[in-house]
Amino acid sequence: MSLRLGDTVPDFTQESSQGTISFHQWAGNSWVVLFSHPADYTPVCTTELGAVAKLKPEFDKRNVKTIALSVDDLDSHLGWIKDIEETQQATMNYPILADADRKVSGLYDMIHPNANDTLTVRSVFIIDPNRKLRLVLTYPASTGRNFDEILRVIDSLQLTDDYKVATPANWQDGGDCVIVPSLKDPEELKRRFPKGYDEVKPYLRMTPQPNK
Ligand code: BEZ
Repeated sequence: MSLRLGDTVPDFTQESSQGTISFHQWAGNSWVVLFSHPADYTPVCTTELGAVAKLKPEFDKRNVKTIALSVDDLDSHLGWIKDIEETQQATMNYPILADADRKVSGLYDMIHPNANDTLTVRSVFIIDPNRKLRLVLTYPASTGRNFDEILRVIDSLQLTDDYKVATPANWQDGGDCVIVPSLKDPEELKRRFPKGYDEVKPYLRMTPQPNK
């Protein structure tokens, strides 16, 4: 069965371009972005892996580790990494799992046989430090992902874990937030949102981002 939001993600031990990884232990107290790509030595994947490497300072700021996966073997990864570094002007600063035996792609349902019966699709899993699954995205092989969107979701998850807000459509860090509808007590509203809020409708109350 496929993984659902809130599930504890499966643990595994698998080879990677940075040595053997025991996933839960490797994750430690960090958030994790685990993402699969269809194959090594392909153009879109080359740009994606370079883009994630260049975003490392942004992931680090948010206490996030990144880890990629395809069903290619370790030798293939090690050769391809040289191409990624050369063509994308990036240093590959995170591991690529070598899932040739499909152990991890099976556990995480990354092969969608009606799209392609051997290659992984472009899956993204955001996992919190409690090993809970917080987001799943699935993109087709032909569409490279927007990793700024992944950072935006992480910003939203980390904010909404700490404050009684949710983030509206197209929200960016620093933008106004919505107060969760369950919060109704006037005293608590005053205490939690000292900058005030705008009641557009009783269920739609906008407030400045509380941690800014
Ligand atoms: C690519 O990464 O360029 C790619 C991989 C599989 C199918 C199509 C494109």
